[in-house]
This record gives sequence, structure tokens and C-alpha cells, in this order.
Amino acid sequence: MTQPLCSRAARARRRGRRARLACSLGVLAGLLAACAAPPAHQGAAYAPRADGQRLDVAALTELGRALFFEPSLSASGRTACASCHDPAHAYGPANALSVQPAGRDGATPGLRAAPSLRYLNTLPAFTEHHFDNDGNDSIDAGPTGGHTWDGRAGSAREQARLPLLSDAEMANAAPAEVVQRLRSGPLAARFRALFGSAALDDDARAFESLLFALEVFQQSPRDFYPFTSRYDEVLRGRATLSAAEARGLAMFNDPAKGNCAACHPSAPSADGALPLFTDFGLVALGVPRHRGLAANGDPAFFDLGLCGPLRTDLRERADYCGRFRTPGLRNVALRRSFFHNGVLHSLEEVLRFYARRDTEPQAFYPRAADGSVRKFDDLPARYHGNVNTEPPFDRRPGDAPALDDAEIADVIAFLKTLTDADVMPQR
Ligand code: HEC
Ligand code: HEC
Repeated sequence: MTQPLCSRAARARRRGRRARLACSLGVLAGLLAACAAPPAHQGAAYAPRADGQRLDVAALTELGRALFFEPSLSASGRTACASCHDPAHAYGPANALSVQPAGRDGATPGLRAAPSLRYLNTLPAFTEHHFDNDGNDSIDAGPTGGHTWDGRAGSAREQARLPLLSDAEMANAAPAEVVQRLRSGPLAARFRALFGSAALDDDARAFESLLFALEVFQQSPRDFYPFTSRYDEVLRGRATLSAAEARGLAMFNDPAKGNCAACHPSAPSADGALPLFTDFGLVALGVPRHRGLAANGDPAFFDLGLCGPLRTDLRERADYCGRFRTPGLRNVALRRSFFHNGVLHSLEEVLRFYARRDTEPQAFYPRAADGSVRKFDDLPARYHGNVNTEPPFDRRPGDAPALDDAEIADVIAFLKTLTDADVMPQR
């Protein structure tokens, strides 16, 4: 890493404020009511209705919701978006599997953990050079933003194409196949009622409309960014943290302890926008290889994130290999698989990895034949220099870990305050 992460985090907080403001101004609602072109980041002009009639945002949101839950859009007839993105788990996976089975046979394993779809509302488009353009901050924060773990999809609309057409997910061969399923499925009449009677006649147009409905649904504040966690209540001055939670937050923020907030900002911006616990930067942590993943059965295969192989435009950038997008931590306590490859299965394991990756690497990585520890075993040696070495990763074998077990327990107590009220587990 070349740039100080704390300033990256500070910039991210300011970025969050701007984007949230745009949202609260109801840009989306205005956009739909006016039936204008989609937001600039969505690329080619797309008018939801050929006849120029207005679309009702509420009806479009409900159609998007129905499509999100509709398994008949998949080749197996069994996989819907909700199969991997369960609303009861903040639109993350409901089970503890590292990767979700899907595909044509409903059993093909994926390569990566399914993320939560909540709190992506201010996710910026991918850029290799992020500069904050307010204030006088001219430091290049490096690769930032974009949908998926490697930032390769430009918008939720672009993103939705991926699972619909991926062999390991909904497994349609082409957009025309998706539209054929839509035509013969239970939502055809609703789709025509909303987008116009000819809405399913043209494959390309129908596919765009489907993606649009899914995207609008994913922008529904109540479903996707409710901000109802206890920590939000604390920030609003309507609740307090317990002693353990408060100690955990202090550890989370302390640059000499967890230093978590450097990449997962925890404080509201100066004008009160609530934090999303990510600066959306792409960083290499050297997460252990997941030997249980089918693709990793080939010892020569590596998921290198930003430099490929799923992403193809930055293959030449050796300095990007191993970098993945920093996930937000809201609702993270509901997850049972962590990191891009789902290799760890509890927050205790994740925190221990942060605290001890460098002090006790043998606890996370296998040994080579000569007995040496193969640190960063999911990255070819030539990329090891890409791995982050700032706190809590600034230690050597034998040093005291950045967080002891009691401090780890406190950080986890704090992370549990980030769960939204509607998905709070019953006690
Ligand atoms: C078989 C499981 C599966 C299904 C089905 C699925 N997804 Fe996903 N989703 C994933 C995985 C895995 C990722 C991460 C992909 C990556 O990093 O390459 C992901 C990523 C995403 C993202 C990006 C989130 C982020 O943090 O950038 C969005 C948005 C999304 N999915 C929406 C959808 C929609 C909409 C559908 C239905 C059309 C859908 N997904 C179907 C597993 C699934
Ligand atoms: C240098 C930036 C950085 C710092 C510092 C950092 N993280 Fe992360 N965090 C990341 C990135 C990047 C990932 C995803 C890595 C991957 O999957 O390869 C991640 C992933 C996670 C995950 C897994 C979430 C999921 O959905 O799978 C948790 C939990 C987490 N971090 C918590 C913490 C805590 C707690 C701290 C402080 C002890 C911390 N992080 C410090 C960048 C950082």
C-alpha cells in the first residue's frame, strides 16, 4: 500500500455524504416520474416505456421484488436472486456454505461468497484513481468502487446480467433465453401491464426492462438501506452502547489496535450521513486459500480479484492482483461465511486473522514440505508485495497480537450492534 489509509477513510466519509444527499433528494423518484433516461452511470440511454408514458415507482419496485424472488427465470427453475440473497439475512446467504450451489443442475458451486445487497446505495462506479474532489485533498486513493468483489460491474443493472447469464448461477445462455422464461412465466402479465403491451416482444428491450425493474427494487430504502441498527440509534442519540460494545468501538477505531475504521469507516460525516463501514477501496489482505472450492482443485488456479480472471480488463496490472473490494460491515453478524472466498466461518475467526495473521501465520496458512509456513498461499509469490501491511498487520512472528481475545470479544459485541432491526435474530 502506498497511501495512508486513514486519509482514504476520511475521504470516503465525505464521499458518502454527497451520495446520500443525492439519494435523500429523491433523485430516483424524480427520474422515474419524469420517465427520463437512467442515471449517467448506467450507460446507454434506455427509456422504460416505448410510448413515453410515466412509470409508477411503487409498482416498478413491486415488480422488481417479484422478479427477484422468481425461480422460473433460471435454467434449473429453482434458483432466484433471493436463493443467494435472502431478505431475512439482509440479502446475504441464509446458510453457512462458503459459496452457493446453482447453475443448470442447481448444484454447480460458485467461486465467491454471496455478499449482502444492503447499503450499496452510495457505491461509486469503479475507478482506478479515486480522488476526493471536495476540500483540498489530492491524494490518489487508488482502485475504488464498482459492483462485485472485484468491482467489475458498473451498476446494479449491469450487475444483474451476470447471475442471470452465469453458468454457476441462473445459467441462461443468452438474454433471449431469460426473456423466453419471462414470457412463459407467472409474471408476464404484470410485466406487460407495467412496461406496455409490447414489452416482451423485443428480446433486447425486454431484457433491459427486466434489469431496470431489478435495479429499482434494489434502490428501495426500506428494503435495502433502512438504517435501523442499534448503532444508528446510538448515533441518533436515542440509545447507548453497553460497556463492552463501547470498548469494541474504541478498538475498532484505534489506529494502533484494530485500525478497522481506516477501511471500514464508523463515524458519521460532519453533516450527519450515517457510516456504511466501507470506503469501497480494493485492498489485498492475503486471505487464506479455500481448499474446499471446486475451482481451487486446480493448484494453478487463483482468484486474483481486480487483476482477474473473472475480471478481464486489468489483467496486465500485477500490482492489482489479490485486491478485493472492502465490504461494508452492516449486518455482518448475520453472515456465516466471510471474505471473498467464504473461507472463514465466524467473526471470531475473522478477528483472529486480523490480529494474528503476521504474529502467528501458522494458524492460518499451511506448511511447505520444508516446514516453513506458506504465508499468503492464495497468491503467487510475485504478488505478495501487494498485501496490506498497515496496522493491525504491522507485526512479526512472536510479537503480541494487535488485539487479545477479550478485545476481540468486545469488537464482535460492537459489530453485533450493526444488525438492522428487521433482521435481528430472535433471542
Ligand atoms: C447462485 C447464487 C447467486 C444468485 C442466484 C444471484 N447472486 Fe448476486 N451475487 C452472488 C455472488 C457470489 C456475488 C459476488 C460475485 C462476484 O464478486 O463476482 C453476487 C453479487 C451481487 C451483487 C453485487 C453486490 C456488491 O457488493 O457489489 C448484486 C447487486 C447482486 N449480486 C444482485 C443479484 C441479482 C439481482 C440476482 C438475480 C438476478 C442475483 N444477484 C442472483 C451470488 C448470487
Ligand atoms: C486495509 C483495509 C482494511 C482494514 C484495516 C480492515 N479491513 Fe476488514 N476487510 C477489508 C477487505 C479488503 C476485506 C475483503 C477481503 C477479501 O475478501 O479478500 C475485508 C473484510 C472484512 C470482513 C468480512 C466481511 C464479509 O462480508 O465477508 C470483516 C468481518 C471485516 N473485514 C472486519 C474488519 C475488522 C473488525 C477490522 C479491524 C480489526 C478490519 N476489518 C480491518 C479491508 C480492511
